[in-house]
Amino acid sequence: MAFDVQKIRNDFPILQRKVNGYPLVYLDNAATSQKPQVVIDCIVDYYSNYNANIHRGVHTLSQEATDAYEMARKKIQTHFNIAHLHEVIFTSGTTHGINLVANGFSTLLNKGDEIIVSALEHHSNIVPWQMLCERSGAILKVIPINEEGVLILSAYEELLSEKTKLVFVNHISNALGTINPIKKIIEKAHAIGAAVLIDGAQSCSHIKPDLIDLDVDFYVTSAHKMCGPTGVGILYGKEDWLRKMPPYQGGGEMIKEVTFEKTTYADLPHKFEAGTPNICGGIAFGAAIDYLNSIGFNAIAAHEKMLLDYATKELLAIEGLKIYGTGSEKTSVISFNIDGIHPYDIGTIIDKLGIAVRTGHHCAQPIMDYFNIPGTVRASFSFYNTIEEVDSLVQGVIKAKLMLT
Ligand code: ALA
Repeated sequence: MAFDVQKIRNDFPILQRKVNGYPLVYLDNAATSQKPQVVIDCIVDYYSNYNANIHRGVHTLSQEATDAYEMARKKIQTHFNIAHLHEVIFTSGTTHGINLVANGFSTLLNKGDEIIVSALEHHSNIVPWQMLCERSGAILKVIPINEEGVLILSAYEELLSEKTKLVFVNHISNALGTINPIKKIIEKAHAIGAAVLIDGAQSCSHIKPDLIDLDVDFYVTSAHKMCGPTGVGILYGKEDWLRKMPPYQGGGEMIKEVTFEKTTYADLPHKFEAGTPNICGGIAFGAAIDYLNSIGFNAIAAHEKMLLDYATKELLAIEGLKIYGTGSEKTSVISFNIDGIHPYDIGTIIDKLGIAVRTGHHCAQPIMDYFNIPGTVRASFSFYNTIEEVDSLVQGVIKAKLMLT
């Protein structure tokens, strides 16, 4: 079926609205995606018809909600190609998943062990590991980047040693759009016996990963980047690791038996799912995955590549505009600045024209430090964006430049 972007846009009620008197041009998809009607309907249906707590009640509503939630887990397993259903842990999002693993490794690391992260990470894939190093005496090492915003793999190989226990890398940089060669990174870490966690928060809306093929140890992501709701995500972990790690939080549902003398823990995945989860969010995550697959990830990638190439060409025609993140492997994110103009000023002016972009350091201050800039303007495109919207962005940036210089 041909890719019909106008038809797809009709699935998203928010894309029909105006902002400041102009049609909304939503180019902040790396921060969060918009939600199609089927996901909104799924949320309304849950709260209207079968809202109940799960895994706890014998009554009909509880069973319907439990079935829908577990069905969503199954959809997630299939989508990401995960070997076992109990390796899918629901979380509140990527940050929660990373902190869960960092906490789990507190008991598995020794003083002097080494952890490798990349210079392209979001703060959520830096700070939890620094906290883990403080607790465990492990040492944090960083894979550097080059001027294109691409990881220097030879430096990564030099960092790897028998001391390396863990490697943490995002699949795609949220700030620059660089796609990292994760298969290679995983293979090299495994060759020296280190485990790898991949942060899929920025890639999950563009690329459908095959976790069995990647042979990754941990993978984390968030539903809200994939047309699903905020407040829900997943941690995938290989069963062996999940068994070795202690629970992250104590509470209801994560136990087998509780006495004041000793508590035993539930089997996977419940060992890591204390408390009432985001039930509706989990179910709607399943609906979002169905929706994205109905469009198809090949079609999504082709459309977004077309937008990226066109926007790169048009933006670079503006004198004084510099793009950060110029590697050949990148997704539909363009981070840029214009000589002498603060990114906030551009963002504020184009918002008045209905254009939504993110400005600032994008929770990736080390990248901004590397380029010696306070931040960038970041336009991030999704499959529901159009060539006309790219034109609006370019015209908006030209107008902002004229006003600010
Ligand atoms: N991590 C999100 C972003 O890049 C919030 O904007």
